[in-house]
Amino acid sequence: MTFYRQVGSIPPKRHTQHRRPDGGLYAEELVGEEGFSSDSSLLYHRGIPSAIVDARPWQLPDQTLTPNIPLVPRHLKLHDLEYKEADPVTGRRLVLGNADVRISYAVSTETSPYYRNAVGDECVFVERGSATVETVFGALTVGRGDYVIIPRTTTHRWIPDGPEPLRTYAIEASSHIAPPARYLSRYGQFLEHSPYCERDLRAPSEPLLAEGTDVEIYVKHRGGGTVHVVPEHPFDVVGWDGCLYPYVFNIADFEPITGRVHQPPPVHQVFAGQNFVICNFVPRKVDYHPLAVPVPYYHSNVDSDEVMFYVDGDYEARKGSGIGKGSISLHPGGHSHGPQPGAVEGSLGVDFFDETAVMVDTFRPLDLGEAGLVADDGRYAWSWSGRGPSA
Ligand SMILES: [Fe+2]
Repeated sequence: MTFYRQVGSIPPKRHTQHRRPDGGLYAEELVGEEGFSSDSSLLYHRGIPSAIVDARPWQLPDQTLTPNIPLVPRHLKLHDLEYKEADPVTGRRLVLGNADVRISYAVSTETSPYYRNAVGDECVFVERGSATVETVFGALTVGRGDYVIIPRTTTHRWIPDGPEPLRTYAIEASSHIAPPARYLSRYGQFLEHSPYCERDLRAPSEPLLAEGTDVEIYVKHRGGGTVHVVPEHPFDVVGWDGCLYPYVFNIADFEPITGRVHQPPPVHQVFAGQNFVICNFVPRKVDYHPLAVPVPYYHSNVDSDEVMFYVDGDYEARKGSGIGKGSISLHPGGHSHGPQPGAVEGSLGVDFFDETAVMVDTFRPLDLGEAGLVADDGRYAWSWSGRGPSA
């Protein structure tokens, strides 16, 4: 994040002695991006953050990726996937991915292990359910419609706590995930034209301290997976300050930008990562020119693959395709996509769309994960023509 936050006990001057009640020193740790040249925070630990007593390999969930060949648009039905009792980290099933971003889905009732993603930032969208996300910076209470942004290497765990299973759509970057630069002043404040601002973001407000010895932390890293065993509980931070920390933004706090005629997808952008963007479509008044066509024109995104996750409402442009809540559409570069037959005519005169969807556009092609292959309906590609290949 770009704005400063201070939580718990810190010394008045950085890099100076900060003493515990027993006279010993807290261990100061700088967590920073891009070497020492971007956002960072200073954390004050009771123990030594470098200490480990054991390490062993962690076999990650199936990360296999299969190219989208033959190249076709696809409809993936995530709600049709079968799930056993799982947690929101090890229970993730890979749907789509490339070198820049992986999208996975989990249905969870169990508490995750302590976890740290050293590959990149995570943006975990909560489709349904609620949870507490405990982090080394403090706890976050999350629920339906929340984007949970967790910076690279943040030690945390997920504790589903609602009456229904927690459904999470995890967007794992190989880079950092942040608000689009064009929403921010040169010093990092949200500008007036941004569809959200600082007041809409929630972050830890008090330290989270826990006791424990020989605690396991599951680390996903560029070489694979490893379990580190640390001698003291990783939640030992009595205070921290800086501009790098986990935070939450709810999709219902996104103020849609509307116009007389159809607005292009960039007005729906919420976050950006390297070689991908995240946009969302929220319930909104639609185009009010007397001759407006509210659904999108056909478009060929020549530089990107487009992944839409349909969360709520009734998605006007996809009517007749079988797409519903819990569906993904994958519209790859190289294929022009747009409204299903009849959707243009059906939208004329409509003044409000009740739809909630999360979109990821990637600038490199997406391959299919194991869950993507299983969830493919096999028919979507032919939905505009009304007929498929002859037998
Ligand atoms: Fe599109």
